[in-house]
Amino acid sequence: MSKSTFFCRNCGSQASKWMGRCPACGEWNTFEEEVIERTIKSKGEALPNLTGKSAPKQIQDISLLEMPRIHSGFSELDNVLGGGIVAGSIILLGGEPGIGKSTLLLQMALAVKGCKVLYVSGEESDAQLKMRAERLRIAPQNPDCFILTETITQEIFKHIDALKPQIVVIDSIQTLQSNLLDSGAGSISQIKECAAEFQHLAKTTAIPIFLIGHITKDGSLAGPKILEHIVDTVLQFEGDRHYGYRIVRCMKNRFGSTSELGIFEMENSGLREVLNPSDILLSQRDEEYSGSAIAAVLEGNRTMMIETQALVSSAVYGTPQRSATGYDIRRMNMLLAVLEKRCRFKLGAKDVFLNIAGGIHVDDPAINLGIVAAILSSAIDIPIDAKTCFAGEMGLNGEVRAVSRIEQRIAEADKLGFTRIFLSKYNLKGLQTKQFNIQLIPLGNIEEIFKHLFSD
Ligand code: TYD
Ligand code: MG
Repeated sequence: MSKSTFFCRNCGSQASKWMGRCPACGEWNTFEEEVIERTIKSKGEALPNLTGKSAPKQIQDISLLEMPRIHSGFSELDNVLGGGIVAGSIILLGGEPGIGKSTLLLQMALAVKGCKVLYVSGEESDAQLKMRAERLRIAPQNPDCFILTETITQEIFKHIDALKPQIVVIDSIQTLQSNLLDSGAGSISQIKECAAEFQHLAKTTAIPIFLIGHITKDGSLAGPKILEHIVDTVLQFEGDRHYGYRIVRCMKNRFGSTSELGIFEMENSGLREVLNPSDILLSQRDEEYSGSAIAAVLEGNRTMMIETQALVSSAVYGTPQRSATGYDIRRMNMLLAVLEKRCRFKLGAKDVFLNIAGGIHVDDPAINLGIVAAILSSAIDIPIDAKTCFAGEMGLNGEVRAVSRIEQRIAEADKLGFTRIFLSKYNLKGLQTKQFNIQLIPLGNIEEIFKHLFSD
């Protein structure tokens, strides 16, 4: 019996007929026909063996010892996962092609201690993986790292059954194919089916499974939200390919907080953990230039000192250019409008370029005060001294607003040897100022920044 259905490429919702617009996600022209043929009878054989029968248990009888965590060999990765890899969990690692997903998980497979790992690749050959492993220079390498190049899930299950690995890595979910379905690898129905089969395997055997998933151009996981429901943890690997820095961000975690993140640097011999991110995000400079300001930004639970650079110059063409790297351009335009209105700064005829150092993208609104300072510094061409930093949000009336966890930000700036930090005066309430060496400069309004920075 052959049957076909239509799937939305964007959200994975299913329909029996083609539609121009997906009723679930509202995207246009995303429906695709896929042949799904499923013989129910063979399903029982094809799924991995159930070990033991299921039975209801009283909650107090369930012991947490059944959920030991495995340490991945990378403290940054363990942190993001909430303290290590949970047995029987299924972890989706998404990211753009070439960002380093295969490298990270192969490195983990080689570094994890005393654990049998099966790395299944549908994208690279044994020899290619060996070459990569050589390049990673991890010593001593885990002798129990097995490589399998296979894409049929039923075959993979047979090997897992025989080898009994303690961790399985699938590179990537888009290359897998289940014999139960006729549609091609990478189609929505295949991705759904293969992920469901692996979920079944993870839950019945308690083997943790990493699934690598490619991301489509618009930033969503290909085959997309359907997978996010199925898996326990969604990690996103991001970074600018032209820079070495990579961030593993947790988008969903059933076993820990989602505010953790791990920072890595891509080197010639693989990924290296960055335990002290502020060091790399501050550009090394000997001279002071105008247009540069340092902001104390929170990413997840970590504070980072990030350099923002602005360049304000007279527009050469009729329409001034505005561009921002690592920051939302609409928010930059909003800040420019505030400066124009509140500080009477004539920025309307100026080109404004903004760049966040290190190639990372910042969403924390506490960076706003730093950005405004950088723009002002460039506009009037007076440098800000390198030992000054900023942490504040800007309101539309030019008021400097309080930000969350100010103490943590001040402590980081203090630790790194900054001598003053600009912040909102509303943040001072209840703050234990004596414990810091750094000078706190409270601002109520953006105009007050001139008095401190640019008056002489
Ligand atoms: P890869 O892990 O293949 O990316 P993905 O699986 O996400 O598609 O990583 C690819 C990039 O990483 C590649 O462009 C080369 C670079 N790289 C290094 O810079 N150093 C290394 O040691 C390795 C293994 C890769
Ligand atoms: Mg890869």
